[in-house]
Amino acid sequence: MEATAPPAGDGGLAVSDLVVGYGPVRALRGVSLRVPAGAVVAVLGTNGAGKSTLLRAVSGTLRFHRGGIGGGDITWRGTRLSGVPAPGVVARGVTQVPEGRRVFARMTVEENLRAGALGAKGGGAREAALARERVHTLFPVLAERAHQRAGLLSGGEQQMLAIGRALMARPSLLLLDEPTLGLAPLVAARIGETVKEINAAGTSVLLVEQNVALALSLASYAYVLEVGEVALEGRTADLAAGDEIRRRYLGMADAARDRPRGAPPRRTLTRWFA
Ligand SMILES: Nc1ncnc2c1ncn2[C@@H]1O[C@H](COP(=O)(O)OP(=O)(O)OP(=O)(O)O)[C@@H](O)[C@H]1O
Ligand SMILES: [Mg+2]
Repeated sequence: MEATAPPAGDGGLAVSDLVVGYGPVRALRGVSLRVPAGAVVAVLGTNGAGKSTLLRAVSGTLRFHRGGIGGGDITWRGTRLSGVPAPGVVARGVTQVPEGRRVFARMTVEENLRAGALGAKGGGAREAALARERVHTLFPVLAERAHQRAGLLSGGEQQMLAIGRALMARPSLLLLDEPTLGLAPLVAARIGETVKEINAAGTSVLLVEQNVALALSLASYAYVLEVGEVALEGRTADLAAGDEIRRRYLGMADAARDRPRGAPPRRTLTRWFA
């Protein structure tokens, strides 16, 4: 690894030598990563590499999955974040959009958004109204469907709602776990555009993605996790220009491309090169 991570300074997120386990299962084995203030940073990696675990550790939601931090440190804006329970993390300006969207299906779109605003630091009705206005501008469909049950939305719309709900907490850092998974290419591209807009408005983003092309186009810096460790990191311009990511997974991609017609795909990673 020649590349050095950009400094987070006191304005960003710094994860140092983070060790996380679920009981006896060791999911992260000393992961270090930085998200400088204002940046979009991507985390890539195959299934089970530890991407969601990393986001859960930052957002303080590990305990809901019976996981725990076994070592290392997480700091945000110069103060310690590890050990802070989930509501405290949201109150400090860090909000996670969990894997698989997880909207409240039986609640309306509007009620989902309102729930997102509950954890916001300070601010009253006026701030919440401004946040909602911003979410509606980003995702007009959420205004059109305000009184519809969230469970009736399409997958893409539910992802928009999940992101919108997180934005209602007015985060300074947004943690996105595979926001385009299972979405049609056009919808995925739309989500990508939204990530750019959110970042342009001043929110830093830590983006977990299996779609490498999309992640490299959105982020300035990327980390590749392999079985709980950072196997590769660098500026996305360098990673995109070089063939390190491709070389690492070429065997799988080629195997899938050459597979007999109708045979099942061997690894999900093939969609990296689709
Ligand atoms: N609640 C849990 N209990 C026990 N083991 C878990 C739990 N959640 C995750 N793991 C294990 O921890 C490791 C990392 O899982 P994690 O979900 O963080 O990976 P991931 O990179 O997000 O994978 P995916 O791409 O499938 O979402 C895996 O070996 C997984 O089986
Ligand atoms: Mg995951």
